[in-house]
Formats: sequence, C-alpha cells, structure tokens
Amino acid sequence: MSDHSIDGPAYGSENRPILRIALVYMLTGFVIFLIMGILGLIMRLDHAGWWVISPNWFYRIMTLHGAGMVASLLMAALGGIIAILNRTVKLSARWLWSAYVVYSLSVPFLLYAVLIGGFSGGWTALDPLPYHGMTWSKSAGVMMYVTFLAVGVGFLIYCVHVFDAVRRKAGGVRRALAWEVIFSRKSDAQPYEPEVAELAAIATAIIGIVTVIGGVLVLVPLFAEAAGLVKSVNPLYSKNFIMLFGHSIANVTIYIAVALVYGLLPVYTKRGGHTTKFVALAWNFTIILVLTPPPHHLYQDFAQPLGLAIIGQVASWSIAPSVLLLTILGNLSYIYRSGMRWAVPSVMIALGFWGWVFGGIGGTIDSAIPANQLLHNTLWVPAHFHAYYLLGVTTFVWGYLFYLISDLSGVREKASTKIAAWLYGIAGAGFLLVFFFSGADSIPRRYAVHLPEWNLYAAIAVPFVLLTIVSLLWIIADMIRGLRSAWRNTSAVK
Ligand code: HEM
Repeated sequence: MSDHSIDGPAYGSENRPILRIALVYMLTGFVIFLIMGILGLIMRLDHAGWWVISPNWFYRIMTLHGAGMVASLLMAALGGIIAILNRTVKLSARWLWSAYVVYSLSVPFLLYAVLIGGFSGGWTALDPLPYHGMTWSKSAGVMMYVTFLAVGVGFLIYCVHVFDAVRRKAGGVRRALAWEVIFSRKSDAQPYEPEVAELAAIATAIIGIVTVIGGVLVLVPLFAEAAGLVKSVNPLYSKNFIMLFGHSIANVTIYIAVALVYGLLPVYTKRGGHTTKFVALAWNFTIILVLTPPPHHLYQDFAQPLGLAIIGQVASWSIAPSVLLLTILGNLSYIYRSGMRWAVPSVMIALGFWGWVFGGIGGTIDSAIPANQLLHNTLWVPAHFHAYYLLGVTTFVWGYLFYLISDLSGVREKASTKIAAWLYGIAGAGFLLVFFFSGADSIPRRYAVHLPEWNLYAAIAVPFVLLTIVSLLWIIADMIRGLRSAWRNTSAVK
C-alpha cells in the first residue's frame, strides 16, 4: 500500500536539484510555446488576408510552429511529472539533465533545417518529401530528421530512467503497473497501490520507449538513403512508422498532462489521488490505445493493408470510453460537491476537461472512415488536435506550472487573475470553433493561399487568438512575481 497523502503539495521538495530540473523543463517549454503561438497568429493573419506572406515562408512558419509546439509541450509536461514523481520516487539528476541536453539539441537542428536550409514540408516531414523538396536542399531534409532523432533520443533517456526508477520502487513492473490492484479480490491481502503519478509515469514511459523504437526503425533507413547506402525506403513503410512516432509523441503528451491533473486536483478538492481498480485499468489500456490509432492517418492510402485501417478505427474509437468514463467523469466526480477552491490552476483544469472532450469528439468523428473521406485534409484536422492541445494539454500544464511557482514561492495569486484564466478558455473555444466550422465547410488545411471566400473565418478567429495572448500575458504577469523566489527555493541548499 502506498503511503501517499492527498494533503501534501503536488510536488516533492526533498530533492531540490530534481525540482529545479522540473522547473527548467517547464519554463523552457513555456518560452518556446509562447514564441510558437506568435507564429500561429501570423498564419491566421495570412489566412484572413490581413498580413499576406509568401507561400514559402508560410510553410516554413507552419513547419516550425508544428514541430516547436509538439516538442515544447512534451518537454513542459515531462517537467510537471518529474516534479510530482519527486515526492515518492528516487530520480537521478544526471539522467534527467542528459535527457534535457539531448532533447534541447533539437532546437538548433530545427532552426537550421527551416531557417537556413529552407525546409518547409510540415512538422510530420513525411517521406519522400524531405529529400525531394523544390525549395530546400536534401541536407535540410536530413536536418529535419536529425531534429526528430534528438527529440526521440532525449525522450528515450527520460523514459528508460523513469521506467527503471518506478519499477525499482514498486519491486517489479507488474506491481508498478498496479496489476495487484487490478487482479485483487476482497479476500486478498492489501495489494500494492502505486501513486497515480507513478502508474501514469511508467505507462507513458513504456509508450515512449515503443514510440522511439518506431522512430529509430524509420530514421535509420532514411539516413542510409541520404548517405546513398540504400536506393530508397518503401514510402508506405516509412509513412506508417513516421506516423507512429509523430502521432504517439503528440498523443502521449496529453496523457502525461493528464497525470498532472491527477496530482493537482486533490490539492484543490481534497479528494481523489488513489489508484482505484478503474484508474489502474484505464492507465494499462492507455498503453495499447495510444500506440494503435496512428493508422487512422492513412485511410486515404489505398496501398495500406485493410487490416491496419480497421485497427486504426477500432483503436481510435476504443480510447473514447476510457477517456470519457474513467478520466473525465472520474475527475469531475471528485470536483462535484467537493467545495473545490477556485484558483487559476483549478479553473485551468476545469477548462481542460472541456477542451479534451471537444477535441476527442472531433477526433472520433474524423477517425470514422466515411467521415474521414470528407474531412481529411480540411481544417477539421487541426481543429481537433488544437482542441486537445490548446484547451487540454496547455491548460493542464500551465495550470500546474502556475501552481508550482506560487506554492514554491509562497506568493499568492491575485484574485483577478482568475478572470484571465476564464478568458483564456473563452478565447481558446472561439478560436477552435472557427477552425471546426472552417473544416466542416471543406476549407483545406496546409494551404498558404486562401480564397477570398475563406478569409472571413480566419478574420473571426484572429481576435480570439489575440485574446488568448492577452490572457496569457495577464497570467504570466502574476506568475512572474513569484518566479525568482520559486527558483531560489529549488536551490540545493535549504
Ligand atoms: C494561439 C495558439 C495557436 C494558433 C493561433 C495556431 C494556429 C495554427 C495554424 C493557423 C495552423 C495551420 C493550419 C493549416 O493551415 O493547416 C497550425 C498548425 C499546427 N499547429 Fe497550431 N496554433 C496554435 C496553437 C497550437 C498548439 C498549442 C499546438 C500544440 C501541439 C499546435 C500545433 C500545431 C500543429 C502540429 C500544426 C500542423 C503543422 C503542420 O501541418 O505541419 N498549435 N496552427
């Protein structure tokens, strides 16, 4: 039985160097996220016809924005879970710094690929595009894949370390995955109950390890192709594995962010935080259900074996009950009549559930093969994943960061900042609804040049984007008051 208490802070403060690393991961992710958000605004201004940029630059910006957002939010989410794990699991600063350094190498590689090399083939960099660009050199394409490699290896170092640390603490993988809880009967002795954060951390580390192996299985042949060692890689093979890598990295970020909710909610509701049978089952299923939906990106590829398309659809739909019933309804039941203290982090969590549901419904619709025939490559697709991210992952992760800084520094939030959190939700919802309507109206995604008939949608979206920026700046202004003192409090000397 774990000895976790739901009253303590949602981070561990005994091992200060680890806490400092967590803060560095989160702040690095936050800064990159803010810069990438500005790039998003530029693209929407272009779509509205208000600031028309050349297609070449639009696609470069789109590539930077996509890759930068996905990588920065994963890094920030990892910082959050490291801080929570620090309560109960012995982590190594050396491993976590190594992961950070390797992961961060992706930044100069990406900047080189896009800004110097001119790569603009989208963050997914689907083969054979990178080596056959008309506006960029082959070396730029190679650099894009080197970026993937740095993210993958950095993430792998983190995953292997966390997997091992959680396993050791539990005394085995099965115990760490809460199988004793799942298979226990009333008559059994007290089963070993890992903390939810530990269970989430090992489940997502397993997903991460498989994801990176998938990435290596495609990157090695692609590098061999670039070096002239093989003539070409089968494009269907590479597409499947690149999608496994990219989609799963993006998807696993959501679950790491959800783990932060499990850590944080008990602070505000004084409820939850226990690894029940349902919670244990949900996290175990998550391992399979994050890794199996990527074929839903390839419904339009007629050469794709039918079996994989069916797996994609079944897996995409199977995740919905697990997410809705267990995680969202489960957490809402903790909030219900708990007398939850409304503060910036708890408002952000509540908003995040809505974003997650909206994004989930959008994704579930699109992953039905007949609907995908219509919605594929329309703005419906970015609508669904932006909903997950902008109103799900970011609210969970930045809510946690806000909490961490104010709790560590002892600087209490200003009451008015709650308004900024609600505004962020309203602005995000407005921006996303316009994306969804545009998709339903068949406006294509990844088009630099928009027809005049499409401009109106983007013109409606721009004020909402500006409002997200204003509300974030408002939240930052409050958060920054405690930053220096929070940083000092992560110093090894107490
Ligand atoms: C203020 C916030 C944001 C704005 C205004 C914004 C805007 C945009 C726009 C206009 C596009 C291009 C859509 C198209 O024509 O296909 C795009 C693509 C994308 N965005 Fe965002 N976005 C924002 C936040 C985010 C966040 C939080 C993520 C997190 C993952 C994200 C990830 C992506 C990705 C992966 C793409 C696809 C890039 C590609 O196709 O290569 N965005 N975004």
